[in-house]
Amino acid sequence: MDISISKFRQKRILQRSATPEPHPSFRRGPGPTIIYTILFVLLASTLLFLPSAATPWPVALGLVVALVLLCAGCLLESLRSLHPEKTHRSTHLCLLYTMVVVALLIGAPLCYLVRSTFGEKGGDLPMLLVYCLPILLPHLIAPVSLSLLLGPVFGTLSGIALAQLFSLQLCLCFYNCKGLDEKTVLLLGIATLVTGLVTAAVVPRCIRCGNIRRPAHVVKISLVALAAPLAGFIVAGLLAEMLPNYSPDSWEWFAAVAIAVVSCFFQTIVVAGTLFIFEHIFALTSDIRLQNFADLSEPLMVRLAAEAPGTLSHSSSVSTIAAKAADCIGANPILARVGAYYHDIGKLVKPAMFSENQVGGVNPHDTLPAATSAMWLRNHVKDGLAFAKEYNLPIPIRKLIAEHHGTTLMAFFYHKAKQEAKAAAEAADDGRSPAPVEEGLYRYSGPKPSSKEAGILMLADSVEAAARSLDKPTPQAIESLVTDIFQKKLLDGQFDECPLSMAELVQVRTSIATSLISILHTRVVYPKDDADAKPAAEVPADAKPEEPASPPDETPDENKGA
Ligand SMILES: [Fe+2]
Ligand SMILES: [Fe+2]
Repeated sequence: MDISISKFRQKRILQRSATPEPHPSFRRGPGPTIIYTILFVLLASTLLFLPSAATPWPVALGLVVALVLLCAGCLLESLRSLHPEKTHRSTHLCLLYTMVVVALLIGAPLCYLVRSTFGEKGGDLPMLLVYCLPILLPHLIAPVSLSLLLGPVFGTLSGIALAQLFSLQLCLCFYNCKGLDEKTVLLLGIATLVTGLVTAAVVPRCIRCGNIRRPAHVVKISLVALAAPLAGFIVAGLLAEMLPNYSPDSWEWFAAVAIAVVSCFFQTIVVAGTLFIFEHIFALTSDIRLQNFADLSEPLMVRLAAEAPGTLSHSSSVSTIAAKAADCIGANPILARVGAYYHDIGKLVKPAMFSENQVGGVNPHDTLPAATSAMWLRNHVKDGLAFAKEYNLPIPIRKLIAEHHGTTLMAFFYHKAKQEAKAAAEAADDGRSPAPVEEGLYRYSGPKPSSKEAGILMLADSVEAAARSLDKPTPQAIESLVTDIFQKKLLDGQFDECPLSMAELVQVRTSIATSLISILHTRVVYPKDDADAKPAAEVPADAKPEEPASPPDETPDENKGA
């Protein structure tokens, strides 16, 4: 595909640096971040230090404080560089710290209980129990919960932090413990570390590759999570083989692996049962809750199907395109998909004002002044937000509804208004020039997209709507259309507040063009006789009569309401 972005790239580079600045609403002072970090260091240090009575306290305290400080520093720095747009959301950082502290809170009494029950009485510590400790610690709960609530980056970071902290917790707790030699303690620490690291690497990525509401996907996550303790045991087992005069009972290791299976399933169930608590406390929306709204039996979807079937068909196509594009740049495909389903619900107020719902070639805008038509179009965003509030849609979906047009110009009606002013001046014939048309009245009221998903939705929506007006949707015509719309949106400054980088925009454009080609390529125009003979199943569900081509400077068909 010809990538002719050099012109707007120059302007773009002048407008912003390669790494996008955080959205102004995320720029809060450093106060909450500092307070949460201090609290995290104090709480985590206490939880790690308390069960380590057997370790000389200066050593234990020094180790604990150093490691917790290191973890906090790594978490902050990683978030700042990997997720600049979320770093300053102090509630997200607070949730990240809370999940890590809760995991340590569960782990500390567990370790203490095992040591005080078996280790300090001089008896033999049941080795099976010792081997099971790394997998009984809740290494899975924080990465899975945070992946669902905040995204895979947060899940991965929490998993890495917990791997280090759990490892230290075990080593300190069982240091010098009767019935447990130093080599076993060291191996336990290594097994825990590897378990946590593998969990962080594989689980967050697996979560969004399917529908979390389906039991089959939950089983898949649990099985993937099982790879973590297995890796931990394999590494520790290999190291044990290399240690001189050390031969652990292999049957106990195998038994521990079996318990790991149960532990992984149990922890996944705990996540499903407790997720809503964190959603309410931190006012967040998990992917599981979002997916509930993708159901076509949801009240608004039922209304859309009954009252505005054309809009439902358009929304469905946009959701497919947007989800794929979001997936290819690591944004949230679930949010993009569900947001796309609801982005035009405001059209329910008067479906016939929008082209996809017009039947029989009747277009109310033909007889309306341009200003009135523009008002109808602009109001579908406001009405959408009113519906969203009435039907209690989650905040992320409401933001997508509000931002899906940004402040885009309704170019068709803007030019029509100019023509009307010119015609009025000619009719008056008083020698005056036509009254100026205020451009702001023909722009959507915004705000501009402030998230990657909103930027993707804006592009997918515009491109899908415009592609419907193509006479011949050949791959070349679609690619040319997509490139044209991307350039216009970019030059119009619609992505000025969006954290999409230039590289991501290019990836999104390629993905959208590919999706659109695969959707539209089946719209073959058959010769009349043949078309009558074709079975209905070969005609795409969203196929509709071809519409006249848009004016050259026009994009979405809803912008002209025709
Ligand atoms: Fe819209
Ligand atoms: Fe739309």
